[in-house]
Amino acid sequence: MTRHFLTVEDLSRDELLALLDRADALKAQRTTDPGGPHRFGEALAGRTVALLFEKPSTRTRLSFEVAVRELGGHPLPLSSGELQLGRGETIGDTARVMSRYVHAVVLRTFGQDRLIELATHADVPIVNALSDLEHPCQALADLQTVRAHTGGLEGRRLVYLGDGNNVAHSLLVAGALTGLSVTVAAPVGYEPDGEVLARARGLAESTGAELTVTNDPNAACDGADAVYTDVWASMGQEAEAEDRVAAFRPFQLDRSKLDRAADHAVALHCLPAHRGEEITDEVIDGPRSVVWEQAENRLHTQKALLLDLLSRGAG
Ligand code: CP
Ligand code: NVA
Repeated sequence: MTRHFLTVEDLSRDELLALLDRADALKAQRTTDPGGPHRFGEALAGRTVALLFEKPSTRTRLSFEVAVRELGGHPLPLSSGELQLGRGETIGDTARVMSRYVHAVVLRTFGQDRLIELATHADVPIVNALSDLEHPCQALADLQTVRAHTGGLEGRRLVYLGDGNNVAHSLLVAGALTGLSVTVAAPVGYEPDGEVLARARGLAESTGAELTVTNDPNAACDGADAVYTDVWASMGQEAEAEDRVAAFRPFQLDRSKLDRAADHAVALHCLPAHRGEEITDEVIDGPRSVVWEQAENRLHTQKALLLDLLSRGAG
């Protein structure tokens, strides 16, 4: 059975925790001995990983390319505009052909249906590098970051301020699997998808994570261990940007909200940030911000993910 990573739900709780442990080990090794031999430096030798982007990207594109290289594989960055996909070749046919050349495909796209279609017709692992529904690779890095700063996930609480879309969805599922409670504070009309929330709540029954949705961004922050935000207008929603500012303004991650969180609380943002909109300079540049480490952790967690999906007998 070919394994895919289209949603955080594609990992079990044990797989997810083991992936985070391996990401921590990879990070420790790269940090303490940057020039030394990489423990998994040949794990993807002879493997090519296509990185296909239908939306812009800095972190995902770079971290996947570096991850594949540092694991000894060959990354192949592509945009749909340069493929026949951009001229109407179907995703199914693209999947059939790509499976003959490459060993995995990482896709950033719009609808989740495009990822499902690709996975249905591919014989190689497909990884969701962000869709309108989920950003599961981001959630892996978020968990690694929160765990490092709060000493654990179970029994801790993360507040997400803003749009209840892709990043919030992946955090809800990731929290459900690991016992991290997640509060999504979103404006009316921008709450998380009901089906995603229901599925996440189902998963949370075995871990005790409390998953809540509120329209009050201030009370949501009270006592939180981590406060997280994301852009108000996601990629593909640029035309709505002006209208969204008014609705989202009260949800800005600013000093007053961070002060309501626990003393040890950290501030997160998946980036790119629109400074002065969803997050203030004071918070993102302040002492409780862990956003740069969070971005770095994309590299370590995606290496661990690629090892799980692709490497033979990596121990
Ligand atoms: N956080 C994130 O996915 O960033 P990019 O859009 O730059 O890849
Ligand atoms: N919600 C944002 C995340 C960017 C990493 C978007 O989809 O554009």
